[in-house]
Order: sequence, then C-alpha cells, then structure tokens
Amino acid sequence: MTIALMKDLQGKVAVVTGGAGGIGRAMGRRFGAEGMKVLLADLLAEPLDEATRELAGEGIDVAGVVTDVTDHSSVESLAHEALQRFGAVHVVCNNAGTGGVSEGYMWEHDLADWRWGIDVNVLGVIHGIKAFVPILLEQGEGHVVNTCSGNGGFAPIARGATGGPAMAVYPMTKAAVLCLTESLYTHLEMTGTRVRAHALFPSGFLNTGIWESWRHRPKRYAATQDRRTPEPTLAEVVARFEAGGVRVEFTPLETVADQVIAGIRADRFWMMGPPAPTEEVVSRKAASILARSDPDYLVDVLSQTAGRGPDTEGGNQ
Ligand SMILES: NC(=O)c1ccc[n+]([C@@H]2O[C@H](COP(=O)([O-])OP(=O)(O)OC[C@H]3O[C@@H](n4cnc5c(N)ncnc54)[C@H](O)[C@@H]3O)[C@@H](O)[C@H]2O)c1
Repeated sequence: MTIALMKDLQGKVAVVTGGAGGIGRAMGRRFGAEGMKVLLADLLAEPLDEATRELAGEGIDVAGVVTDVTDHSSVESLAHEALQRFGAVHVVCNNAGTGGVSEGYMWEHDLADWRWGIDVNVLGVIHGIKAFVPILLEQGEGHVVNTCSGNGGFAPIARGATGGPAMAVYPMTKAAVLCLTESLYTHLEMTGTRVRAHALFPSGFLNTGIWESWRHRPKRYAATQDRRTPEPTLAEVVARFEAGGVRVEFTPLETVADQVIAGIRADRFWMMGPPAPTEEVVSRKAASILARSDPDYLVDVLSQTAGRGPDTEGGNQ
C-alpha cells in the first residue's frame, strides 16, 4: 500500500550514521544538494569534522555529531541533537558499518570479530530504529533507510577471491539488516503511518573504507587471536580480482546516493541500482529452496563476477 510520498525534500532533515566517509558522506552531500539539512554521525571525530567542513563549504546546512551506534544512549543523544538543531528528522540512514577482518573457516573466526560485526552492523541499526522511528511517527512522515548488502542480503559470498572461505560475519549481519528492515516495513504499515522503511543495496565495486575497517577497530573489540594472514587492503583485493581475470572499475559513490533519492521519491522499498551480478543469486536461491536442493547458489566471488567486474564487498578473503 502506498500513501503519500515525500517528494519535496527542500528544507527537510536527514541524519546519516557512518557519515564521515564512503557511502554515508556521499548520501549527506546528495541530501544537501536537494536542499536538505544534514546531520552526519560517525565514531571517527577527525574524518567527521573533515566531512562536515567539506559539505559546509559546498553551502550545505550540515553538522556532525560523534556517535557510537553500538551504544544506544549515544544514538539517543544523536536524535536529541537532531531535534534541537533542526527541529525535525525526516530521513534516517542507518548506514554505519564495519567490514570485519575474520580469517579462515567460520569456526576459526575470533569471537571479538563476531561481536564487533553484530554490534555495529545489526545492533547499530536497531538502535537507530529505536531512537528515531518514534520521532518520525510523531511527525507523521519520514523514511528509514537501512544499508544492507547483496553479500548476505541475497546470500553470503561463502568462497572468497583467493578460493578459500570468505568471512562469515559480515554477510550474516547484512542478512539480519534486511530481515529487520522487512519487519519494520510491515510494522510501520500496520500503524497506517506515512513513515516508510527502505533497504539500500549499494551496487558496483565501491572505493570506501569498508575494505579496511580494521584500521579503526575499537579497543573493546580488540582481537583475541593471533592472525595467520595480514589484514586485507583494498589494493590487495583489487590485485586479486585482476589476477583472477576480473576487470576492476570503481562505481562512483554518487550513484548510490542517487539510488537513495530515487527510492525515497518513488517510495521504493528496494533501493537498488541496475541489475547486478549478485542478483542472479536471488532466483537461484529461490529455486533451490522450492526444490529442496542443496544450496548451489553459494558461488565463489570470482566465478560470480567473471568478465563483469566485482559487485560486492566482503568476499575478499
Ligand atoms: N562499500 C561497499 O562496497 C558496500 C556495499 C554494500 C554495502 N555497504 C555498506 O555501506 C555502509 C557504509 O560503508 P562504506 O562502504 O561507505 O564504508 P566506510 O568504512 O567508508 O563507512 C562506514 C562508516 O561507518 C563508521 N562506523 C564504524 N563503526 C561505527 C560505530 N560504532 N558508530 C558510528 N559509526 C561507525 C566508520 O567510521 C565509517 O566512517 C556499511 O553499512 C557497509 O556495510 C558497503
């Protein structure tokens, strides 16, 4: 059921977690270009400050709030700050995420990796929903945009670019984000509100910090196991893809921000770009479930992307 849409974004307020860099910063910039007021939230104070100054320099009414999405009181403070500063919140992007660093088979993954991934990628989104949805409901309109991923949202990349096991933490968290966004969609609809939920699937190969999240690993999630392999870098991932015959071309982050604006305007639950290689997994998975056949859709990242360029993050190990 579609009720009224928030087509005119001018003067509206957007809050973006994980707004210091990557997709979050690109969304903030695009919201600002639409005439929206923007509140960027991130754990990292310095990049947040830099992002805020950059967007302000482009004439955007923007502020930054250091926020830890793993801490509910921190996200509540963010909501209070948004109301105090801008008087309303219309678009909430639960976008902060960590890529994780797990190595080996999933039973070998460090428990600290699981906790870090679950706390940021899943609990962080839940905290955003809990702190902001009541405000949106009170206003009677708004959009909650949760950043998912094809890696997990469709099916996990289970075999990585080296042919070994891909990390299991990240896709598990993104499957959870899609699942809870689906529930949110229905729960909102049941109340008769005009507040909408959206699942964002950034597509393409994106040059963001997610590939090297380990650089900013918080102390309280410090690794408890010695690593056998060095932490991954984006440069290595690119080299591995290219060695596997996959052409690497980065998709501009603006295209993800465009997906979000278009999705809000069209009131689209699925915020997705043009058909991506990973989407083939969806029909293969459905067929496997219906046929009760073994999950043969869990292809390795190289064969999935052969000749077309990589489509998703997290399958790098
Ligand atoms: N880059 C991709 O290819 C891709 C694809 C699909 C989905 N995603 C998702 O997009 C979202 C944004 O990631 P990105 O690719 O722009 O990477 P990024 O690393 O550039 O951005 C993530 C941001 O989240 C912040 N963050 C991490 N932990 C936090 C915490 N506890 N509290 C607040 N902020 C925290 C980081 O500091 C960082 O600025 C993530 O949810 C990611 O999983 C990325």
